[in-house]
Amino acid sequence: MIHPPQRYIVTSALPYANGPLHIGHLTGAYLSADIYVRMLRMLDHDVAFICGSDEHGAAITMRALKENSTPQAIIDKYHALFESTFKKAGISFDMYHRTSSPLHHETAQEFFKTLYAQGEFVEEESDQYYDKKADKFLADRYIKGTCPKCSNPDAYGDQCERCGSSLSPLELIDPVSTITGTKPELRKTKHWYLPLDKYESWLREYIEQGTLEGEEHHDPDEWKAHVTGQCKSWLDGGLQPRAMTRDLDWGVDVPQDIPDAVGKKLYVWMDAPIGYISATKQWAKDKGKNWEDYWKSEDARLIHFIGKDNIVFHCLIFPSILKAHGGYNLPYNVPANQFLNLEEQKISTSRNWAIWVDEFLTEHPDQADALRYVLTKNMPEQKDAEFTWKGYQADVNADLVGNLANFIHRVMVLTHKYYDGKIPAFDEDTPIVGARGNDEASWHEVEMMDLFDRMWSIQNAIEKFEFRNGLKGLLDIATAGNQILQFNEPWKAIKSEPEEVAVVLNLCIQYVAALSLAMHPFMPEASARLRQQLGMDPVSEQGSWVETMNALANGEHLLAEDHALNQPEHLFTRIEDTWVEDQVKKLHDMSKQESSKQEEKAPEGKPDISFEDFMKLDLRTARIVDAVKVPKADKLLKLTLEVNGTERTVVSGIAEHYQPEELPGKNVVILANLAPRKIRGVESEGMILMAEASDGKLHFVSATHDDSGMSIG
Ligand code: 2FM
Ligand code: ZN
Repeated sequence: MIHPPQRYIVTSALPYANGPLHIGHLTGAYLSADIYVRMLRMLDHDVAFICGSDEHGAAITMRALKENSTPQAIIDKYHALFESTFKKAGISFDMYHRTSSPLHHETAQEFFKTLYAQGEFVEEESDQYYDKKADKFLADRYIKGTCPKCSNPDAYGDQCERCGSSLSPLELIDPVSTITGTKPELRKTKHWYLPLDKYESWLREYIEQGTLEGEEHHDPDEWKAHVTGQCKSWLDGGLQPRAMTRDLDWGVDVPQDIPDAVGKKLYVWMDAPIGYISATKQWAKDKGKNWEDYWKSEDARLIHFIGKDNIVFHCLIFPSILKAHGGYNLPYNVPANQFLNLEEQKISTSRNWAIWVDEFLTEHPDQADALRYVLTKNMPEQKDAEFTWKGYQADVNADLVGNLANFIHRVMVLTHKYYDGKIPAFDEDTPIVGARGNDEASWHEVEMMDLFDRMWSIQNAIEKFEFRNGLKGLLDIATAGNQILQFNEPWKAIKSEPEEVAVVLNLCIQYVAALSLAMHPFMPEASARLRQQLGMDPVSEQGSWVETMNALANGEHLLAEDHALNQPEHLFTRIEDTWVEDQVKKLHDMSKQESSKQEEKAPEGKPDISFEDFMKLDLRTARIVDAVKVPKADKLLKLTLEVNGTERTVVSGIAEHYQPEELPGKNVVILANLAPRKIRGVESEGMILMAEASDGKLHFVSATHDDSGMSIG
């Protein structure tokens, strides 16, 4: 029934110490992992639950620059914030470490040295942008320019946030350094690359078959389809060698005895996942354990909880690093979550469209388990999911207050009322409505075995990373319990059939006791309060599930006759409409504030021009007479325009937005005094004014009447 104890390293993505955590982070990589780990511990597995702050990389230095601070001050601030956030949210890490620690620097350097000594790296010189004024190479994020794909003037060197394309800095049009605002120059620099292209065949075998050199490693059917799917599409696209070093001044030094290493740092994705190992070393040191048992022995499993944006790093790149080093286990499963949307929009740090976990739990410390519940119920396990405050209210009021807490409370109150808070003795032969029995077992035994099945399905769901299903199994127990009460109506039966009431309440108390255990992984704090009310010890994590399951499988009760209960108290509180309205208002207010802040700060786009410059433009209305495609140019149309009674030709890049035949007769506005120039062999005399709509389509700027001159005063 229960697997033999197994060693586990369970990790949650190390959060960048450059800003607070929102609910999308929490549900993605921390809450999911915590539920899993709590179940593993109750199943008596030997678990190390590992995380820490990711304190290197351009994200940190950019934050420091933005806040006029230092990287050290930034990481100290957010490291402390993360520790308190996770505590408030009940995330039960065994070790929360940090990548700025000397132990981590040593560990990451040892990895690099080993890979270097084993000749795993390919060394290469390449051109990279250098800011002469700041006297440094620029990280991709420090370069801004125009996106070659969508013409967004504010694209970053690694990504355009408007069209979502991932970019390399060399693709940007008109790149500018965000540090000094100057135009960077290209300089040669040397880096060490991990030849992922050479690992492609074993990576494919590992991902698709779950084998390594033909040996079984894991069951690929146990991986989530979207995770495997993303890996396959990377593999199908062909892997490229990836630089494992950077020219940065914040991070882990490339071991300085390696030639040309001066000034070089480890790429943050070479450094951060090794943070899982250094954190384990620290934990083992503190606990007197051997860290290698957890990373290298055959009976140990490595499980990474992450968000979907980290899949390639954990499923392809980190395994490549581990295998190139040798001696380490590779990830056994990577149950990544997709993204959580908030009130039908993407959660966005820059627009401040988020629920910040620490802030929320500081304001509402009593909501930690309710938040855990709602986030689990709506966890983006297979696809993106939605969080709304209305939904939060509905989930809490219907499921937690109306179903779970209501059942528990009724049972406890009735037991106090009729039996002075002591679990009543019951007579095996008294039948109750809704109970079953058979020849081999009394109906009470059958009920306990039924409870076993219900608990089993919760366990099973959690083991398969199906936390939403597990949670549903928990609520199903409360629903079944409420039905027993409803069918038997002890509040009526107490006068006419008191023996029956004793049986009903005894049975219901067993349900409540089972619930107190099953609640633990999902809502640990409410579980502890319930156990106190039941007069039971808090769930002792190690092995307690196994104990309870053994009892239930034998048809035994969880709480004995005569056991005394403490006074019941409500476990969850109803959420009122006004509270929900306040939360929604707060969200909108915060995001509005942020956008006005940004508008004040950044008069967007191009430098100011003078009034005189503007007056130089000769804008006129014109009518399109004819339009034809320009041969061999997908984007260009050759237009014949009538302006002031004369015709002129203009070449315009609108062929992807308009068919030639829909254009004749349209009134447009042109810049008439643009110096003529040849485009694809055609002389173009002017430019048509276009505006881009939010859907990305270009529309003509048109005048309401077609006088030929336009006033621009
Ligand atoms: O995406 C992120 O927030 C990264 N800091 C995750 C790192 S996970 C790991 F490799 F440590
Ligand atoms: Zn773009």
